[in-house]
Amino acid sequence: MKVLGIESSCDETAAGVVGPDGVLSDVTYTQEIHARFGGVVPEWASRAHAERITATVREALEQAGIERPDAVAATAGPGLIGAVLVGFAFAKAAAMAWELPFVGVNHLEGHLLSPSLDNPELKPPFLALVVSGGHTSLYRADAIGSYRTVAQTVDDAAGEAFDKVARMLHLGYPGGPLIDRLAQQGDPTAVRFPRPKATGLNMSFSGLKTSVRSALERQPDLAPADVAASFQEAVCDVLADRVMRAARQEGIHRVAVSGGVAANSRLRARLQALPLNVYIPPFRFCTDNGAMIAHAGRQRLLRGERHDMGLRARSVWPLDAA
Ligand code: KG4
Ligand code: ZN
Repeated sequence: MKVLGIESSCDETAAGVVGPDGVLSDVTYTQEIHARFGGVVPEWASRAHAERITATVREALEQAGIERPDAVAATAGPGLIGAVLVGFAFAKAAAMAWELPFVGVNHLEGHLLSPSLDNPELKPPFLALVVSGGHTSLYRADAIGSYRTVAQTVDDAAGEAFDKVARMLHLGYPGGPLIDRLAQQGDPTAVRFPRPKATGLNMSFSGLKTSVRSALERQPDLAPADVAASFQEAVCDVLADRVMRAARQEGIHRVAVSGGVAANSRLRARLQALPLNVYIPPFRFCTDNGAMIAHAGRQRLLRGERHDMGLRARSVWPLDAA
């Protein structure tokens, strides 16, 4: 079964086709318009999705060498609701016109299952660290659709902290890749930022962000590369610590890491050095993409799941309630 997946929950208009042998196409258009504002402007995002969606889907089908798929999947949430609705309504209309099965996908499940795109042997049970701009959670995946939250951030998502610190350093948006690059020339031990704790295995990144701000105010001559490297190291320490402790607590040694922050070179190296089987997708499948939605939708469709046209999009949709 070849499934077309459509993603439009934030600032990427994306479509991909996944079949039995893996990814057949993956087309992502990143909306540049938000860079000048320093963050995603929801109304601009919806408009840009609407302008781009047809060409993106057409290109995904063309690259996959097919005129029409066997089923259609689309992100149904969580995300900016006006943005989600563009891809979601487009997908429903396409499924209706083509008379094909349709399934709405939880964006977080798309990320969570993305490490298995290139590694079909990765089957539940496994631990899943989803680190993105909007979410930072560690789940226990016992089956497709059966996810339990083991830990989560109690305030900012890790990606949000990257974006905010990048802003303090006047680097631009999105901040994650810019900090990643700058940190390569910096000393990760230059500033000892805190590794904030929260109850149990939960995480907190808001205090870390505030510490960066105070350090910059106190010592304005700090080298930006050193600040970037030290901040990044603190985030990596927290995430690596929680993954290790969760693996011990749950008695599971397979860990799937996904979401935009999983593209971070230092985080990838740190997690891959743990005494666990760690699966991290290639860079292009870490940030938002259509292939991961096609893949997650395909897993659901293969289990016989279908949604009717009455399915509604959701701005908030916890994965453990999916
Ligand atoms: O998964 P994603 O594309 O969108 C959401 O679902 O949120 O994640 C975007 C986030 C942004 O905060 C971005 O700064 C961060 O992922 N990011 C990175 C890197 N690449 C993207 N953070 C750290 N290092 C990177 N290389
Ligand atoms: Zn995402």
